[in-house]
Amino acid sequence: MTSDQIREMFLHFFEGKGHKRVPSSLLIPHEDPTLLLTSAGMVQFKAYFMGERPAPSPRLTSCQKCFRTTDIESVGNSKHLTFFEMLGNFSIGDYFKQEAIEYAWEFVIEHLGLPRERLWITIFLDDDESFAYWRQLGVPEERIIRHGEDNNFWGPAGESGPCGPCTEIHYDLGEGVGCGLPTCIPGCDCDRFLEIWNLVFTQYYQDESGSRTPLPKNNVDTGMGLERTVAVVQGKRSFYETDLFAPIINKVAELAGVKYGADDKTDRALRVIAEHGRAVAFLIADGVMPSNEGRGYVLRRVLRRAVRFGRLLGLEQPFLAEVAKAAIAKMEHVYPELVQNQDFILKVIELEEERFSQTLSTGLSLLDEIMERAKGGIIPGGEAFRLYDTYGFPVELTAEIAAESGFSVDLAGFEQEMSRQRERARAAQKFGLGEKEISKVYESLSSLKTEFRGDDSVKSASIVTGLIAGSQPVEVASAGEEVEVITESTPFYAEMGGQVGDVGEIRTLEGKGLIAIVDTVRPLPEHPDFIVHRGRVIEGRVSLESWVSLEVDAERRLDIARNHTATHLLHNALRQVLGSHVRQMGSLVAPDRLRFDFSHYASVSKEELETIQHLINEKIRHDLVVESKMMPFDQAIAEGAIALFGEKYGDTVRVMSIKGPGESEALSAELCGGSHVSRTGEIGFCQIVSESSIGAGLRRIEAVTGRGAEAYIVEHFSTLERMAQQLQTPAAEVEGKVTNILAELDSQRKRAAALQRELSKIEAKQYVGKHRIVNGIPLNTAQVSAPNIEELRQICEWLRDQQGGGVVVLGADFNNRANFVAMGTPDLVAKGFHAGKLVNEVAAVTGGRGGGSAVLGQGGGKDRKKIGEALKLVDELIKKSSAG
Ligand code: SER
Repeated sequence: MTSDQIREMFLHFFEGKGHKRVPSSLLIPHEDPTLLLTSAGMVQFKAYFMGERPAPSPRLTSCQKCFRTTDIESVGNSKHLTFFEMLGNFSIGDYFKQEAIEYAWEFVIEHLGLPRERLWITIFLDDDESFAYWRQLGVPEERIIRHGEDNNFWGPAGESGPCGPCTEIHYDLGEGVGCGLPTCIPGCDCDRFLEIWNLVFTQYYQDESGSRTPLPKNNVDTGMGLERTVAVVQGKRSFYETDLFAPIINKVAELAGVKYGADDKTDRALRVIAEHGRAVAFLIADGVMPSNEGRGYVLRRVLRRAVRFGRLLGLEQPFLAEVAKAAIAKMEHVYPELVQNQDFILKVIELEEERFSQTLSTGLSLLDEIMERAKGGIIPGGEAFRLYDTYGFPVELTAEIAAESGFSVDLAGFEQEMSRQRERARAAQKFGLGEKEISKVYESLSSLKTEFRGDDSVKSASIVTGLIAGSQPVEVASAGEEVEVITESTPFYAEMGGQVGDVGEIRTLEGKGLIAIVDTVRPLPEHPDFIVHRGRVIEGRVSLESWVSLEVDAERRLDIARNHTATHLLHNALRQVLGSHVRQMGSLVAPDRLRFDFSHYASVSKEELETIQHLINEKIRHDLVVESKMMPFDQAIAEGAIALFGEKYGDTVRVMSIKGPGESEALSAELCGGSHVSRTGEIGFCQIVSESSIGAGLRRIEAVTGRGAEAYIVEHFSTLERMAQQLQTPAAEVEGKVTNILAELDSQRKRAAALQRELSKIEAKQYVGKHRIVNGIPLNTAQVSAPNIEELRQICEWLRDQQGGGVVVLGADFNNRANFVAMGTPDLVAKGFHAGKLVNEVAAVTGGRGGGSAVLGQGGGKDRKKIGEALKLVDELIKKSSAG
């Protein structure tokens, strides 16, 4: 019988007994803070047992994914697993001891076909009831063993919850196995008896203090370990030889180039790696990410333990992802979440393994040294802490390695160091730094390098290597806090070369943290690899060394990429149309637009702009290939790639080239680290929206592409539509109609002006002959209603002519100010009259000035109410003048 058949047979059997089949829940318990990981089938049913929620059926059956942390260091022997599948049947206040025992026996004997003489039973001390039921089924008295609470009382899972006495079925592997002592019975520490099924009579609720109260009803919770059962049914000595594990073990053996079963030490390592490789795949699939706390720490411990056992097999290169892949292949038909998340699972394992591999060898030789020095066979807590803090050795791993050489670790001392470190972190948080000191904080963290992995993806996993909140380094940050997050790698592009920083989300899977990232920057120009994500913790928390998934706002990134590639096309078109003297002087590549500043001595004509835009869009339609290549700087320049003037480049540079598919000659090649589309067709369309001067010999072009161009065009068209509607004409005829309207307006304006002139003349006529003689000079002054300066001049001239010489000074209120014109005749000028100077003094009365020639003066001032007063001054000025 295969494991698949046994799993299915169990569920089917209990369905036949009226049980409802329920899928496995996640390894992260749902809404159950008392529990790190799902450790039993009953975990998802807790609320039913406690009467807090009604069960979908009083009889349930499931095959549950379980993870137990208590035995991690024992994994490698033939009995213990971290991850396993647990088959179970559950009665929620329905049947009790009798049916539970009868069903179990029927399944074991009649369906699994296990020989009766191999089966032993354990019961709780005074549980005579169960004893009687087992006896009725024919189990001989001497194979029913009574145990106390250590063995036959189960639960609670976690700090509190349902629990009760239990009865277990054990399989006897035979006298040849195990301790061989005549006193050996089920419950013995040796390997002879294998517990395959535990039937718990869940009667009590136990609180955190350990006190028990009866549950509303009597329940049953049973758990049959699938792996053990399969081993027994398939007649194997351990589950590693069953069909569940054989392909995984074989994979590890193949990677290590060894054979399983040839050597005890090697076998143990193979088992550890196979088991842990499978377990980490399941943990990650269910959302656990490596970290230094909680379930993330469990994952890290297991993963690092596997890597260390890999070393013992001579596996120096990352290998665990391969093992996980084999485990996924074996289990994916039962647990599709494995294959759905396969890429992610393997990536996390790879990265985590890579990280630990870097420090493993150094840490191991340090541990050797420590053991040489250690007194009394004890490794001091401080040393264990150093291994943990600097080399990433989980203390349990240190203890295990030490134990292999007969050493132990001062765990209390280790804990002390841990709490001292936490204390230091807290103290650091208390003394807030000023704004200016933030750059010092950056400096202090500047050795943290971030690898940019966003060229082909917008989502990836990494680890938090630095955390800043309130302008200082912190260990954790919680909801509501503004944070700066530094990670080992990132898909977020940090502002550089004109391209703006990415925005998006960082999630901590451990602790359910969500950080909204609003910008990504490189705060230290001399350390461009030091990348900071700026944002705010929206939910949960984020802590140092925790695994996170980073996801860039992909739509926005694509908008940016379109604009960036279009910028290169624009640069190219400018050089083609305006000449190769055109040099990029600056640029901005944002999601909604692009801006390109360049050197050019003249303005760019409308025709040139049209040609430039046409060239860009032609290249977009040709759907050219956009490629990046790393190469030595000198080679890039030799091949004609454009470098930015005054920019510092490293020895190896990234060249972005745009060329036709299959062509060797690139249309454009530029040194550039930014984000681009992979084909120009993705840009869609490019529309230049402005061209202007930004200084001597410097021009600026702004343009939009993709969604931005679409929005721009839609907006312009709807404006046109609205105009068409208002003009009640088809859009295509709007221009003609507007031209007509403007022409009509113009002729109306001309007619109005002519009329105005007529009016002015009529008005002026009343002043004819009203002049007086001052200082022997005919003088006329008046405030008239001329609408502009020409009109005023014309009236003035006309009056002077009517008057047959002398001086005329007129004032008028237009353009929101006082205006004056003065005219004299040449005979007066000869005597010293000066119209310009006269107006200057007159205009001064209205708070302004004037000027002009001796014959014609013009001026004005702000104070429109003082035109009359100003004109009165003229008489006095003429009186004083020598012209008479
Ligand atoms: N909860 C019990 C166990 O885990 C029976 O399912 O052993």
